[in-house]
Amino acid sequence: MKKVITYGTYDLLHYGHINLLQRAKALGDYLIVALSTDEFNWNEKRKKCYFTYEQRKRLLEAVRYVDLVIPENGWEQKISDVKEFKVDTFVMGDDWTGKFDFLKEYCDVVYLSRTPEISTTQIKNDLK
Ligand code: CTP
Repeated sequence: MKKVITYGTYDLLHYGHINLLQRAKALGDYLIVALSTDEFNWNEKRKKCYFTYEQRKRLLEAVRYVDLVIPENGWEQKISDVKEFKVDTFVMGDDWTGKFDFLKEYCDVVYLSRTPEISTTQIKNDLK
């Protein structure tokens, strides 16, 4: 079974997220989403989420492409996640191109093109 992993915040789940998850799943048989915790988002990314970690997790678990949601607590956990879950392919949107090439030692690394003209930040700004 080919395992794929991706990381992110996934606040205010939108069709750009779904497109990413669908294409990530198509790269293998089992998709793991490492979902940024509220603490990690705030302390490291200065991001305040609309939905809590538990709410975001529940939404992702309802998406047919997602097989498992695990917490992302810090930047440094990727190598140990890849080893622990025996991941074959690491996937991120192309806003992160090159940033995770150090993982190529452990698995395939794929950057998928972002869906244009949609983001959580955009939604929040438009609703202001
Ligand atoms: N993503 C995507 N296309 C978009 C928005 C996001 O492919 N239009 C991907 C990102 O590249 C990432 C994943 O979805 O791999 C989760 O992204 P996240 O940062 O949680 O979502 P954004 O909408 O980009 O949120 P923000 O505006 O807060 O950065």
